[in-house]
Amino acid sequence: MSSNIYILAIESSCDDTAASVFKNDVVLSNIVANQKVHVDYGGVVPELASRSHQKNIVPVVDRALREAGITMAELNAIACTTGPGLLGSLLVGTSFAKSMAQALDIPFISVHHMQAHMLAHFIQEPNETKEVPAFPFLCLTVSGGHTQILKVTDHFNTEVLGETIDDAAGEAFDKAAKIMGLPYPGGPEIDKLAQRGNPDAFDFSKPNVPGLQFSFSGLKTAFLYFLRDEKEKNSDFIEKNLNDLCASYQRVVVEILMEKIETALDETGIKTLVIAGGVSANSGLRDAVLDLKNRGIKTYIPKLAYSTDNAAMIGITGYFKFLKKEFSPLSETAKARLNL
Ligand code: KG4
Ligand code: ZN
Repeated sequence: MSSNIYILAIESSCDDTAASVFKNDVVLSNIVANQKVHVDYGGVVPELASRSHQKNIVPVVDRALREAGITMAELNAIACTTGPGLLGSLLVGTSFAKSMAQALDIPFISVHHMQAHMLAHFIQEPNETKEVPAFPFLCLTVSGGHTQILKVTDHFNTEVLGETIDDAAGEAFDKAAKIMGLPYPGGPEIDKLAQRGNPDAFDFSKPNVPGLQFSFSGLKTAFLYFLRDEKEKNSDFIEKNLNDLCASYQRVVVEILMEKIETALDETGIKTLVIAGGVSANSGLRDAVLDLKNRGIKTYIPKLAYSTDNAAMIGITGYFKFLKKEFSPLSETAKARLNL
């Protein structure tokens, strides 16, 4: 019997149906089907998301296996996100993964979505060995639903040092984009337009929250009122200033994140920082984090494919859990809310 471990990983917590196949810690395939049905609604419609997952899951899993060149019979385990996320969406992935594990008589591994974002830094590519972050490190996890600073002392040992008290960083981007009439998801749109704008054209006041906590809802409201006032004076204010608005708003969000992360680095004395989650794809945040190198901080930034939702991050988490024989019973259910 081969000593290699082959894992099929499935992710369906929000609006992307994703599957990936791993050989130990090496990713063999990584397939994501993005759902276009939500664009007309300016946000994810949970019921439409679940239905799209149902349509996508078989072809996506099939393609992940084919691209990896692995048959179902060779799989040693199936890993799947069980939370947090949209309940209906999670149920599609978990029901599928558990049924397949039962049919193949192999273990089912339950994966926490946010933990997986962080562990994406441990994914290895075929034919190249990448340096992975050494413990302990800090992780800034920034996604559509979360904004957290984690202290990570082991793959599965994390302490939340700070988190948002209201909106997540991704929501701050998505809501501002919506206010400006940009399509969903707004984060990548703002990022794209910001590249052509002046980040110092406008300023928005930053929240005053204690310690390592974040807050973004005040910024969004300040942005909304600012645009409302300017539009009263000049109805095409947004169109005329779109790039500068995006660049300035992005600068402020990045500054809010960086101020807290710098405090966390100072307070803990930890010299390694990783960023994870959809907003870690943001070019302004990536540049700001890279600048920390000048302060002697070792930084790890995920490949774009591993920043936003993907199943490779579920695969690597599944692999580490497999090594610890951390399998889940088939009675395990999807959970919309799940603490780290
Ligand atoms: O991790 P993710 O794909 O899904 C969740 O777990 O939520 O994160 C999605 C979030 C969305 O809010 C999206 O607008 C944001 O990540 N995002 C970005 C960028 N790419 C994705 N935000 C800013 N700049 C980007 N380039
Ligand atoms: Zn995510």
